[in-house]
Amino acid sequence: MTFTPVNHKIIQELKKIAGSQNVFTDQESIHKYSHDETEDLKFFPDVILKPKTVTDISAIMKYCNEHCIAVTPRGGGTGLSGGALPVRGGVVLSLEKLDQIIEIDERNLQVTVEPGVITENLMNAVAEKGFLYPVDPSSKGSCFIGGNMAHGSGGPRVVKYGTIREYVLNLEVVLPNGEIIWTGSNTLKYASGYNLTQLLIGSEGTLAIITKIVLKLIPQPKHDILLLASFPSNEDACAAVSAIFRAGVTPSAVEFMERKGIEWVKEHDDINFNMSPTAAAFLLIELDGSSMDLLFADAEVINEVVEQHHCQEVLFADSANQKEELWRMRRTMAVSIKSNSVYKEEDTVVPRAELPKLIHGIKEIGEIYGFDSVCYGHAGDGNLHVNILKGNMSDYDWNHKLKEGIKEIFELTVKLGGNISGEHGIGLVQKEYMSIKYSEIQLNLMRGIKAVFDPNGILNPDKIF
Ligand code: LAC
Ligand code: ZN
Repeated sequence: MTFTPVNHKIIQELKKIAGSQNVFTDQESIHKYSHDETEDLKFFPDVILKPKTVTDISAIMKYCNEHCIAVTPRGGGTGLSGGALPVRGGVVLSLEKLDQIIEIDERNLQVTVEPGVITENLMNAVAEKGFLYPVDPSSKGSCFIGGNMAHGSGGPRVVKYGTIREYVLNLEVVLPNGEIIWTGSNTLKYASGYNLTQLLIGSEGTLAIITKIVLKLIPQPKHDILLLASFPSNEDACAAVSAIFRAGVTPSAVEFMERKGIEWVKEHDDINFNMSPTAAAFLLIELDGSSMDLLFADAEVINEVVEQHHCQEVLFADSANQKEELWRMRRTMAVSIKSNSVYKEEDTVVPRAELPKLIHGIKEIGEIYGFDSVCYGHAGDGNLHVNILKGNMSDYDWNHKLKEGIKEIFELTVKLGGNISGEHGIGLVQKEYMSIKYSEIQLNLMRGIKAVFDPNGILNPDKIF
């Protein structure tokens, strides 16, 4: 695919369409929008557009489609798979000015929101009315709800509440040719043809630009408790995960953390937490619900289960501050690892009873290829984030041999019945591994869908496959 280079004349046209105050070509903007949170990758756009209305987005897409100009949509720029990187230059279309919570419909427990709203702001706004929107990725303070949509985001509470997919009822989108459509209806279910809403969730900005989102809300649970259990090995901690559910308890979060991850958070952040020297791995377990008595009864069951898996100690968070501190420790893990070492991050997911085999295999593969890793993640979902550290690896091994090791990690993941991304998406950096999970037949079906939506291939080119 050859795209039209963006020259002065095109920029003048884009200024006429979007308004010159919404068009940026200064060096500071070009640099800012050249990267997201993926490793140290940078690709420079020619121009950044920050339209304020759906009509302007429609006109921009129509123009870019007719002139074959690459368009990379962008949310909060917190992605970890390079989905927002403008790999072919051209236009970065930032949704940051579509930042309104349009309506909280208390009668129907729904909210209509624009894509540029920061996820935490949305959560707080609906919480004020007594509602819960539970999909809270670690980056909730800076990621956009539109970007969450593009990735089918998850986070710690998926284990009880499901991913963003369970909450999206309807989407307004602009197609690559500029047409504006709604994908479904504001109903809890419908059975009328293919589900375009679900198809667009997780499409990583390759099929359409999402401009309005209707989400389902649920009532806020009244109480929660938080436990931190320590274990002598990764395998013990991971084996306890599925045992908790088998014992009849559904926590609202079961997060795994390796000791090293916590050590690095402590180095990076002011966290008040002392670990026993023999603790190798931890499970952060949250329970929520409407009755404290029931939560305590469930906590008792969890205590028994983790004990059977050689748990050394269970810390019960006894104040809002301590809960906040433990969650901060978990949520800042990605950032802490990043600031400590050159790294690559993989996002494996397996059926949760396979977690012990997955983590054991990852460490074995690391030994063969000479890399260390720090693992943490949403163990309740079988979703393990694997941070591979460069450490003493030579540049040559890091740039060439490591790929083989990553391939082996994904092969193991798939062999265990899993998938090569749980929630971070494929974007740019994982696409070379797609064939480990999907056959040419499956990939061709996906390519066919892309061609129906975007026959000129202008929208987020070179992503996913
Ligand atoms: C987390 C992000 C990296 O779980 O997905 O912290
Ligand atoms: Zn995560």
